[in-house]
Amino acid sequence: MNTDQVTRTFIEYFEERGHSRITGSTLLPPPGDTVLFTTSGMHPLTPYLEGQPHPLGKRLVNVQRCLRTTDLEEVGDPTHLTVFEMLGSWSLGDYEGPRSLRWGYELLTEGFGIDPGMLHATVFGGDEQLGPDTASLEVWQDLGVPVEFTVEDNWWDNGPTGPCGPDSEFFLWTGDTPPRSTPTQDDRWVEVWNHVMMRHRRLDDGSLVPLPQRNVDTGLGLERLASLLQGRSSVFECDVFDPWRRLVPGLWPLDESSLRLVCDHLRSAMVVIGDGVRPSNTGRGYVLRRLVRRALTVLWRDDPSRGIGDLPDELFLHTRDHFRQENEPGDVRRVLHEEEHRFRTLLERGRQVLAKPRFQGSLSEEDLHYLHDTHGLPRELVLGLREG
Ligand code: SER
Repeated sequence: MNTDQVTRTFIEYFEERGHSRITGSTLLPPPGDTVLFTTSGMHPLTPYLEGQPHPLGKRLVNVQRCLRTTDLEEVGDPTHLTVFEMLGSWSLGDYEGPRSLRWGYELLTEGFGIDPGMLHATVFGGDEQLGPDTASLEVWQDLGVPVEFTVEDNWWDNGPTGPCGPDSEFFLWTGDTPPRSTPTQDDRWVEVWNHVMMRHRRLDDGSLVPLPQRNVDTGLGLERLASLLQGRSSVFECDVFDPWRRLVPGLWPLDESSLRLVCDHLRSAMVVIGDGVRPSNTGRGYVLRRLVRRALTVLWRDDPSRGIGDLPDELFLHTRDHFRQENEPGDVRRVLHEEEHRFRTLLERGRQVLAKPRFQGSLSEEDLHYLHDTHGLPRELVLGLREG
């Protein structure tokens, strides 16, 4: 099953159970929202989880592109991407968690054909404010799925305040032995689907109050599930990376971890630019700048003549079409090109300045400030040049 088929199967399953499909938003959160990027499918739905009636009703389903800067350092491992897609289902004050978990189990085992023996669940074990989630535990026991209790790992929020709740997660065994141990003890258990019983709101003082309605918010990582269904050992081998894996090694011979980072970061940068962000020194633009510069730093380690100009149009078009964007691929390429040019110029200037006798020893905080304020050389870049 490719990612399109996984998405279709998921959406149809929930539509058959009374859910309306909503259009996913861009990576930019709605105005007035404090987060930089949409990090989860629930994010654009916050007002409706807090009680505002949704025009399409109480049962919703969608696919939402997300970006998590917290995962930037993990990119390259088998399961993390910077930009990824999340399949989501919601009950806005309608059915409760047990119903959602049973549907999740049915869809994974019957819809996607996953062997029930390969599943493990985790459940919120309770803390000083709330008791354990016994309703979820009973479902898993009834279905015969092994369960592990955790505390922090089974609590979901989108920030220090706002809607939150205990969650129950589905893990799939990816080892080549029969399943063993538990998700917190063996990372061959990979989390694929999170069901959040979103019925609390955390206030500024840390206390919890009930939301006006009891919701369920679920999120399933599309590329993760697709790669597991396709028998692949990492998200970089699922079908969305096919053109990248076909074309990039011929352009730039890279080891596997560099290839993953370069493909992830350039593809993510294309999506971010397609959603209207431009490189800058703050906020979203800075995240974009970091993505591009990290990718170029890896590329230039072996050969500084490599660059954005090498990338075939097919990669721009494939990314745009996959994310249902409408921009001109030439515009995205131009933004990347300009950023590459800025970075090259800055590096050149940095090398010249750092070659001066004054900067030969170790650099003090004062030197770093001076290099930044007088020569426009960011600390990260200066330290990178020193290491290189
Ligand atoms: N909000 C939850 C998550 O991001 C479920 O969608 O995991």
